[in-house]
Amino acid sequence: MEEPKDTHPDQVLTKRRALFKQFTRTLEPIGLVAGGRREYKADEFLTMAQDLEKLSSKPWVYFTADGNYPPTRSRPEVWSQADAFKQAQQHYQSSVKALVVAAQSGQLAAVQKAVDDVTASCKACHKDFRFE
Ligand code: HEC
Repeated sequence: MEEPKDTHPDQVLTKRRALFKQFTRTLEPIGLVAGGRREYKADEFLTMAQDLEKLSSKPWVYFTADGNYPPTRSRPEVWSQADAFKQAQQHYQSSVKALVVAAQSGQLAAVQKAVDDVTASCKACHKDFRFE
């Protein structure tokens, strides 16, 4: 089945989806380290956490008032409960900031806990604001 073309003048849906895909790509090696399937190297890990932090503020401007169109997976609550959506963004961004702080400590246990908090805040927002 072909997806409808993104005819929005600023292609906001295409842009935010691309950023969310980058969230996933950037989180993947972080998750491998936290799960013990990739060696923990403090310097390398800090760079990965900082990359996630740079991304963490980016998708939200693309949820414009006129940005709810197919094939979005956003729930209407993104627009009807804008304050709660904003809070979920802030919660996520502070969890990523905490991950950077944990990464600066160089303590694997702290890093693992912070990674759990980041993935939990991705999931919490999806549960309330994204269709499965
Ligand atoms: C504050 C809310 C929020 C947070 C936090 C959040 N997401 Fe999402 N995410 C969404 C919404 C809403 C969509 C649906 C976008 C659309 O289709 O309009 C989405 C879509 C996605 C998609 C699908 C992109 C596509 O191609 O359709 C992926 C993958 C994704 N998110 C990954 C993540 C990951 C990984 C994290 C955490 C590192 C995360 N998201 C954090 C709200 C959030």
